[in-house]
Amino acid sequence: MFEAAGGEYLSGEEISRRLGVSRTAVWKKIRRLKDAGYEFDASPKLGYRLSGSVSALDAERIGSLLATDRFGRGLTLLTKTDSTQTEAEKLAREGAPEGTLVVAEEQTSGRGRQGRVWHSPPGRGVWMSAVLRPEGPLTAVPQLTLLTAVAVCRAIRSVSGVGAGIKWPNDLLADGRKLCGILLEAVVEDGRVLHCIMGIGIDANLSEDDYPEELRERVTSLRRESGVPVDRSALIAAVMNEFEALYGLYAERGFEPIRLLWESLSVTLGREIAVRDARGERRGIAHGLGEHGELLMRTEDGQISPVYSGDIELYPGPAAAEER
Ligand code: BTN
Repeated sequence: MFEAAGGEYLSGEEISRRLGVSRTAVWKKIRRLKDAGYEFDASPKLGYRLSGSVSALDAERIGSLLATDRFGRGLTLLTKTDSTQTEAEKLAREGAPEGTLVVAEEQTSGRGRQGRVWHSPPGRGVWMSAVLRPEGPLTAVPQLTLLTAVAVCRAIRSVSGVGAGIKWPNDLLADGRKLCGILLEAVVEDGRVLHCIMGIGIDANLSEDDYPEELRERVTSLRRESGVPVDRSALIAAVMNEFEALYGLYAERGFEPIRLLWESLSVTLGREIAVRDARGERRGIAHGLGEHGELLMRTEDGQISPVYSGDIELYPGPAAAEER
C-alpha cells in the first residue's frame, strides 16, 4: 500500500479500514516494517508515508545483481538471528558448498574480533557470513582476511562512492572512523582447514542514534559519509562479485597481487602506529605488508619488525613521506 501510494501519506484510519484491522495492529505492522529497514515520515494529521529510498534486504535483487558462479548463490536471508557466523557455520558442517551466504537484518549476539561484541541493529546494516573452503594451510587464513578487506573496500567504493580505506589487518575506515569489520573463523581438524566462515559487518545506513553512546565517537556509516542511504542489496552483491574475482586471482597467482591491492587501499602505511599484542606495546612506522600478510613495522632503531596479530592504533598526523 505504501509503495502504491507513491510517496503520498496514508492515514492510520484508512490503512486500518482497508486491511480490516485495528489501529493498534496497523501501528505494530509499521513498527515491523521499520525493523525490516523501511523508513517513514509520520505526521499526526496526515498519517505515514515511505521516506527516502531505504528498503529491506531483497533476496531476488541480490540474486539479480550477482555476477558470480558460487559466492552468494546459496543465500539464506534471515530477519533476526543471534549471529550469521553461527548460522553459516551450521550450514558448513552440514556440507554447504563454498560461497553459501547467510545475511540477517538483525543480529542479537553479533561477534567481533578478540571476543568483542558487534553491534548489529535491525534494518540498517549489512551483517553477513559466507562459507569458504580454502585449499591452503591454516597459515594462509590471515591472507584471506586481507583479501576480504580488499574485496569489501572495492565494493563499498563502487556502490556508495565513499572513499573507505583499510586499517591493518582488516578494518575499513572513513575519515578515521570504523565503518566495517571482518572476522574470519577457521575450523581446523588434524592441522587442515575444514572450512572458514567469513563474517562481514558493514555499517551501511546506521545513523548516530543507532549506536550506543560509547561507540559514537569512533564509528561512522556509509550513509553518514555520503549523505544518502546505500542500497544494501546492491552492496551485498558487489561484495560477493569482488570477492569471487579476487579469490580466483589468489588461487591462480598467489598472495602477491592481493598484497599490492591491499597496500594501495591502506590507510595504515606510512603512519605512526602502536601495536598491542602478547608482547606488550610497541611503537613504530607502518612500513608495508609481508608475504604472509603480516604488517612490517619500522621501529625507532631502524629495524623492521613483523606484526602477525593483535590490534594497532593509528596516530594522527600526515604520512611519513620517506616511508611511501
Ligand atoms: C570486528 O571486530 O571488527 C569484526 C566484526 C565482524 C562482524 C560481522 S557481522 C556478520 C558476522 N556475524 C557476526 O557475528 N560477526 C560478523
